[in-house]
Amino acid sequence: MRKPFIAANWKMNKTLSEMKDFFTVFIPLTVNKSNADIVIAPPFTLLNPASEIIKGTKIILAAQDVFYEEKGAYTGEISPLMLVDTGCQYVIIGHSERRQYFGETDEIVNKKIIASKKAGLGIIFCIGESLQEREAGRTFEVLQKEIQKGLNEIEPSKLVIAYEPIWAIGTGKTATTEQAQEAHSFIRKQLIKLYGNIASELCIIYGGSVTPENIDSLMACEDVDGVLVGGASLKPESFARIVDFKQS
Ligand code: PGA
Repeated sequence: MRKPFIAANWKMNKTLSEMKDFFTVFIPLTVNKSNADIVIAPPFTLLNPASEIIKGTKIILAAQDVFYEEKGAYTGEISPLMLVDTGCQYVIIGHSERRQYFGETDEIVNKKIIASKKAGLGIIFCIGESLQEREAGRTFEVLQKEIQKGLNEIEPSKLVIAYEPIWAIGTGKTATTEQAQEAHSFIRKQLIKLYGNIASELCIIYGGSVTPENIDSLMACEDVDGVLVGGASLKPESFARIVDFKQS
């Protein structure tokens, strides 16, 4: 049985006081109400205070990125061990915004996954096709390549795959439930090839314009085990409704 995995990616949003306001509303709305794993990825600057605020709740802390070296002269970077030190249990790796704006390649993504797993972090590994690639009928080819290269030499413990079609991120265009299920089922087959039967236990989550309005139908798809939410995770009421999705 796969436990639903509902994650918030706050991206470059929120100050300390904005985060405190969020949790003041969010924690009472969700406490003891959900069977899902609830994961929140604030910016680096808020990891330590977030860790204090969520102590004693079931909220799990994640980071949005990491660097693959353990320590040293890498100005501005954060190592896996530093994330563990703040109380992080997961890290998002390979988000399309990192790939698009910061030149992250599949090889870099793979190195980040290896280093983070070595430090004991769980991985939220993001993959997804652009609109151009989808329209050219290349979706499966892109997903297969990202999986093959990103997961090279990676064993599957504490691994969550996030399918995020780039054309659906922040655009208000969600994949239809058929498109999401089709991609997730393809990803599951690739994972079975890599890992065998254990792949049926891995969570594959969907990301791209998830809202309180579309969460229930997305979660009804057989291979959608959770979601990665950007914009709609910034408001406590809307993220609480997503966490409290209705099972059909
Ligand atoms: P969005 O972002 O929900 O704002 O589309 C999702 C993501 O980038 O993880």
